[in-house]
Amino acid sequence: MARGEDGLSSLELLQEIDTRRLEEESNAAYRLVAAEYYDGRHMTCRAFDFLDEQILDVYRKKCGLVESRKQYLEVGAGIATLLRGVLPSDSTLVAGDFCAEMAQHALPLPPNITYRQFSAFNLPFPENHFDGVFAFLADSYNVPRFYSETWRVLKPGGFLFLTCPTKLWATTLRQGDCELLQYARFTTLEGRTVFIPSITRSKEEYHQVLARVGFTKLVYEEFCLPSDYPSNRLPDTIRVPAQRLRREVSRLPLVAALLGEKRGEYPCKSQS
Ligand SMILES: C[S@@+](CC[C@H](N)C(=O)[O-])C[C@H]1O[C@@H](n2cnc3c(N)ncnc32)[C@H](O)[C@@H]1O
Repeated sequence: MARGEDGLSSLELLQEIDTRRLEEESNAAYRLVAAEYYDGRHMTCRAFDFLDEQILDVYRKKCGLVESRKQYLEVGAGIATLLRGVLPSDSTLVAGDFCAEMAQHALPLPPNITYRQFSAFNLPFPENHFDGVFAFLADSYNVPRFYSETWRVLKPGGFLFLTCPTKLWATTLRQGDCELLQYARFTTLEGRTVFIPSITRSKEEYHQVLARVGFTKLVYEEFCLPSDYPSNRLPDTIRVPAQRLRREVSRLPLVAALLGEKRGEYPCKSQS
């Protein structure tokens, strides 16, 4: 594929136009929900948090994701809660989000975590810089531009670990709402509806996008809520798709985890 002077292919330049719109829409939406996104009454978000914690724990144990003497990046970090309890004191984490209003709610951080404002589509870091990049609930920026930026800032052999709502859950929930298939509906505590861009992918689609960018050793896994998850904490956004699919909630894959490794140096010759 032909690449321009700045290393972008013509396809990526086309996607650039889309990512700008996506970024604006997502930022506008998150500004509206930031003050209450982490409120316990938003049960869909809390179910996702619950699963993210479990998934991180599984992958820390299985793949040693969070190690000593490493430099990590977290994209779309919100209030950056997930990694702060597990990061070794001799490793560093740059956590960041493009939405100043989300960042405002972050609690004081330990000295080895810094918080910065940046977009997933323009990571303000040099190439070959981080040992690992994390992104939890990455559906608002789940497009090739984010993956190529991640790939650029990772050291060869570094990993990308992300979680995202599953395509099965999202499409089953949003079915019949065709133009809204790519949006999450967030109802504020005052009853206002905010549509947040939300792009989900199947395992095959992730494999296609990530392999094209240059990631290798891809692992994709789906996670369900446990059968003892409190039933009074189950919102209709989870109950209804389970009913539609005629499954127990505990058999509805809700969050997908994806792990990939950067192969080669940046710029990767095999990409040109
Ligand atoms: C679903 S929230 C998850 C927040 C956090 N990762 C967590 O799990 O608590 C998604 C976050 O991604 C951020 N975000 C969305 N699009 C982004 C983009 N293009 N660049 C950077 N951050 C983005 C939002 O502001 C929001 O904080």
